[in-house]
Amino acid sequence: MKIKKAVIPAAGFGTRMLPATKAIPKCMIPIVDRPAIQYNVEEAVNSGIKDILIIIGRGQEAVINHFDKNPELEYCLEKSGKIDFLKSIKTIPDDVNIYFVRQRETKGLGHAIYCAKAFVGNEPFAVLSGDDVIKSNVPVCRQLINAYEEFGKPIVGAQKVPENEICKYGSLKVENIHDNYFLCTDMVEKPTPDKVLSLYSVLGRYILTPEIFEILENTRPGAGGEIQITDAMKKISNQNGIIAVDFEGKRYDIGNKFGAIQANVEFGLEHPEISDQFKNYLKNHLDI
Ligand code: G1P
Repeated sequence: MKIKKAVIPAAGFGTRMLPATKAIPKCMIPIVDRPAIQYNVEEAVNSGIKDILIIIGRGQEAVINHFDKNPELEYCLEKSGKIDFLKSIKTIPDDVNIYFVRQRETKGLGHAIYCAKAFVGNEPFAVLSGDDVIKSNVPVCRQLINAYEEFGKPIVGAQKVPENEICKYGSLKVENIHDNYFLCTDMVEKPTPDKVLSLYSVLGRYILTPEIFEILENTRPGAGGEIQITDAMKKISNQNGIIAVDFEGKRYDIGNKFGAIQANVEFGLEHPEISDQFKNYLKNHLDI
């Protein structure tokens, strides 16, 4: 079955980015000139998806407003001939639908994804974590959809992480199938050193099948007292195996200060409007 829908969990307090996130949702913090969430929406759209559900939390209406029209601003920009700016605020193509649902309690990523149950219905769907922005040649969501089309099983986007960092991630038990495709038969969320399955870690991208909702209904809180999507996917991986795709691309954890700065520097260095100026600035600044 074709993947037509994507879910972007983007609720959460953004604790590691306080005080910036006190009144602004974490996913609305800009990377150069666009809020982080727009990169994820564009990734889904560029992967061929036209129906996108964003899971937000209380007080995060800025996300809804960002993806709505702003007729007054559009009128002013048009009147003053600022056509490039006008284009820049038309954030999504007209044939793409963006929906929103509120996660009423922050009970973990698994719980957030469960909030998409009615939207998803009975079809496979993509998940793009709002915390993870990924720069790649082929959109990572597309890379995962390609894998789903080949294997017809749930997919996780994965990469190796440093040994001292695996405790922050979901660790995967994997064996290579071919190229960058791996069979994953077990996974563990935030492993202690004795529980690490490999340094291959889940990095914010998934293709899930609707059976996940029934499993999530019976998934108890796990690491950090939260309902973890890793624990639900573990069940499927133990029974039938899932596919891990070692994707091409660089992932930025925009939920923390260093990740957000890295993303700004690296996207800034490639931004057509500022790249030369920014390169010079960095060179001169680092000479000091
Ligand atoms: C979540 C997932 C984890 C994954 C990580 C990075 O953890 O639970 O499996 O490795 O994102 O995508 P969090 O960073 O929300 O604690």
